[in-house]
Amino acid sequence: MSMQHDCKCKDKLINFNNMKTFCYAKNQIISSEQAAIHPLDVGLIRGYAIFDFIRIEDFQPLYLAGYLARFISSAEKLNLPLNYDQDELQNIIYALIAKNELQQGGIRMIFSGGVSDNHFSPAGGSLFIFCEELTMPSPEKYELGVRLLSEEYIRPLASIKTTNYTLPVWLSRKWKEMEVEDVLYHHGGIISESSRSNIFMVKDGIISTPKLNILYGITRKNVIALAGQVQEREISFTEILNADEVFMTSTTKRILPVTQIDGTLIRNGRPGEATQELMEKFWQLEQRERSSFKQEN
Ligand code: PDD
Repeated sequence: MSMQHDCKCKDKLINFNNMKTFCYAKNQIISSEQAAIHPLDVGLIRGYAIFDFIRIEDFQPLYLAGYLARFISSAEKLNLPLNYDQDELQNIIYALIAKNELQQGGIRMIFSGGVSDNHFSPAGGSLFIFCEELTMPSPEKYELGVRLLSEEYIRPLASIKTTNYTLPVWLSRKWKEMEVEDVLYHHGGIISESSRSNIFMVKDGIISTPKLNILYGITRKNVIALAGQVQEREISFTEILNADEVFMTSTTKRILPVTQIDGTLIRNGRPGEATQELMEKFWQLEQRERSSFKQEN
């Protein structure tokens, strides 16, 4: 694994491309510098691997149980033998947060397909857990909203958090100059999700979100619970263009208003009231989650 070395000092917290000094690899906590993957791992040569990403605030992983359950279920669905249960993963995560003094940031868990004789069949490979720095979207994006670009595509095995992001990574080279945040996937006139976020729309006070061909986001689940009534259903591309409000949700974004899709403004092109109300409620939920940790300690 190639890493840019910002500092060679072993005793200090070192930063390799936003990665913190210690990680879990080779079945133990080691220096991130020593983490490595076999060149013939099917995660690398066939793109057969899973991951998950958890946000850390005040040294605590937010909504941890949901992420661990999804990670374990992703491994099961891909027939990858992850020999760690929820408690073991949780203990490693807490140990890494302490060792890296990670007050705020992210935890990336990756489980690769492993090395097999035919270089194709999954074998169950390496578990990596890294601590990273995490920058959330700028205040301007929350205030003004962001633009999406439509793309005809459905993520293969969409309910599994695989590491296959080839298409959006390839497309992303154009996003900055086009001033777009991300893509909106649609197929046969039906939308599904963005490359790393779920999508919601509001029309006449009713909140809806796609039901199929998506990753079932932890943020999506929290937003559905907060909103009270959300229709999980098929949503057409035309329908979302004519919505009163659109927003996207993810661990690394919370709730981000979407104000333009392919050059079409969503209503007046400004974040709507229902979105702003949910953003506030989501923030309050996060504060409750954070204060529950303080009460436990
Ligand atoms: N992405 N859909 C896809 C395809 C995703 O990759 C993600 C998360 C989501 C939102 O899920 P959640 O609310 O659990 O973060 C939906 C992560 C953050 C990423 O790839 O960086």
